[in-house]
Amino acid sequence: MEHEESSAKNNVETETEEKIKGKTVPVGIKIGSQRTVIAKENDTIIVETCIKERENPITGEKDYIIGNEAAELYGDEAVYMLRAGLPGTEDEAELLKIFLGRIASEYGIPENSYVTYGIPSTESEEGVQLFKKVVSQVPIGWAGKEVWNDSFLSALSLPEGLDILDETFVVVNAGSTTTDIVAVRKGEIVFSMVTGEVSGDLVDRWIKNEIMNETRGAVNVDLSTARSYKEKYANLKEWKSVQESVQLFEKGLYTFRIDEAINRPVERYLENLVDYIVLEFLPSLAEFNFKMYKKVLESDFILTGGMAEIPGLKEKFATLLSEKLGVSINVKCPENPLTASARGALLISKLRVEK
Ligand SMILES: Nc1ncnc2c1ncn2[C@@H]1O[C@H](COP(=O)(O)OP(=O)(O)OP(=O)(O)O)[C@@H](O)[C@H]1O
Ligand SMILES: [Mg+2]
Repeated sequence: MEHEESSAKNNVETETEEKIKGKTVPVGIKIGSQRTVIAKENDTIIVETCIKERENPITGEKDYIIGNEAAELYGDEAVYMLRAGLPGTEDEAELLKIFLGRIASEYGIPENSYVTYGIPSTESEEGVQLFKKVVSQVPIGWAGKEVWNDSFLSALSLPEGLDILDETFVVVNAGSTTTDIVAVRKGEIVFSMVTGEVSGDLVDRWIKNEIMNETRGAVNVDLSTARSYKEKYANLKEWKSVQESVQLFEKGLYTFRIDEAINRPVERYLENLVDYIVLEFLPSLAEFNFKMYKKVLESDFILTGGMAEIPGLKEKFATLLSEKLGVSINVKCPENPLTASARGALLISKLRVEK
């Protein structure tokens, strides 16, 4: 997948100036295929982007369990309606509407709010239209709403804040189903590419397989367990020996090492990530705009998205990327890469409210 676009912002109707004043609450919401992040002034909330429809056993009425509760109670039965990044069908749009309405009430987002949404880069104009329709139907953001590219928003959460708008930089957004890369010049996205070939989900699958191999087939964890091992133990800074025990049928308690089964896939991921940038993203950028390509090689790379939480990934990414390109690349990470885009979105909402 690849596309170019000229603006980090997707225009949605913004309501009148006078509504913006008063006690308007600024909010940033990043919609991810796996996790939605809500950033408020003093609070950042992370919610699984999933929903489970069910019938109330007593009244027979349809109701919905959403977010973390749905993930915990229903596991694989919960529907992740944005697996493709944005709603692809009216049904998915409807689920997203219910989801957003519920998180608004559960996490205290008032109607009188200014909401900036972060969404992934996409080729699907239909997805963007469906998303905007949903947003216009959710009873928040009465003072105004905006939709921006979430990779771009991540960059706004760096300590330099809005000053980054003067610079040229690349954002590498390492997510669960996709990796999204954008090249930005003076606040505008010049070029972007998205791939599903490098992703956190793939790492989870490799970890699951490695554990199977390591234990000669005795232990077969599900993907969400593999993911939680990754989130807990993946570490390229210092490899610590990690043991895990499971109760096996007819074998009793079985203990095995999992650090290699986790860190090897992460190293393979890193190689693939750097290869994608060096062999696909940069050559495509050079073809599209050679001046920008040359400029990018002198610019900072911002590594963000949940996978950037892995300790040591940033440093190894910088080393490997510099090695393969034969130039020294400076890599920066927002302080909390999993929630960075929501905080960038909050920054925009705050600006609008303070105006
Ligand atoms: N502390 C952590 N350590 C390792 N990996 C993590 C950590 N936190 C999150 N991740 C991984 O980051 C990925 C999620 O990142 P992110 O929230 O940026 O994705 P997303 O935006 O929902 O997905 P996509 O961009 O593909 O739509 C998952 O693979 C998750 O397991
Ligand atoms: Mg993402």
